[in-house]
Amino acid sequence: ATILVLHGPNLNMLGTREPEVYGHETLADINDRLHRAAADQGHHLLHLQSNAEYELIERLHEARSEGVDYIIINPAAFTHTSVALRDAILASDIPFIEVHLSNVHAREPFRHHSYFSDIAQGVICGLGSQGYDLALQAALHRIHN
Ligand code: DQA
Repeated sequence: ATILVLHGPNLNMLGTREPEVYGHETLADINDRLHRAAADQGHHLLHLQSNAEYELIERLHEARSEGVDYIIINPAAFTHTSVALRDAILASDIPFIEVHLSNVHAREPFRHHSYFSDIAQGVICGLGSQGYDLALQAALHRIHN
C-alpha cells in the first residue's frame, strides 16, 4: 500500500524549534524511521513538508489519482485555521489519521479546536514523534483489515 505523510508549517524546524515542546529529533529522523517501518512491511511511504497551504492542498489533489491508500497528517498551525485544507482532504476521499507532537489540549485555547479531528479516523496528540509511528501502525492495520 501507499501511505502519504504530510507535515504542515514550521515542522521543517523540528530539532531546534522549541525543543521543550517538540523534542530534539529532526523531521528527517522521523521521516527516515517511518520509511524503514513501512518498507519492512512491504509498503511505500511518501512524505511532504510545506510551509505553504497551497502546496499541501495540491499534494492532496494529486494523492487520489496517485493511488494513495492512507494519509497521516500533522497540519501544524493549519489545524486551527484551514477550512481549505480540510476541504482538500475531504475531496481526496482518502482516510487519514491526524497527529500532533504536543498535547494541543494542554496548551493555549486556540489550539483546542481542529478543523480535521471530526473527519479523521483517529487523532493522536501529546506523545511526541512516537505519535507518527503509532499512526503508521494503525494505518497499516486498517489497510490490512
Ligand atoms: C502541532 C501543534 C500546533 O498547535 C502547532 O501550531 C504546530 C505543531 C504539534 O505537532 O504539536 O505547529 O501540530
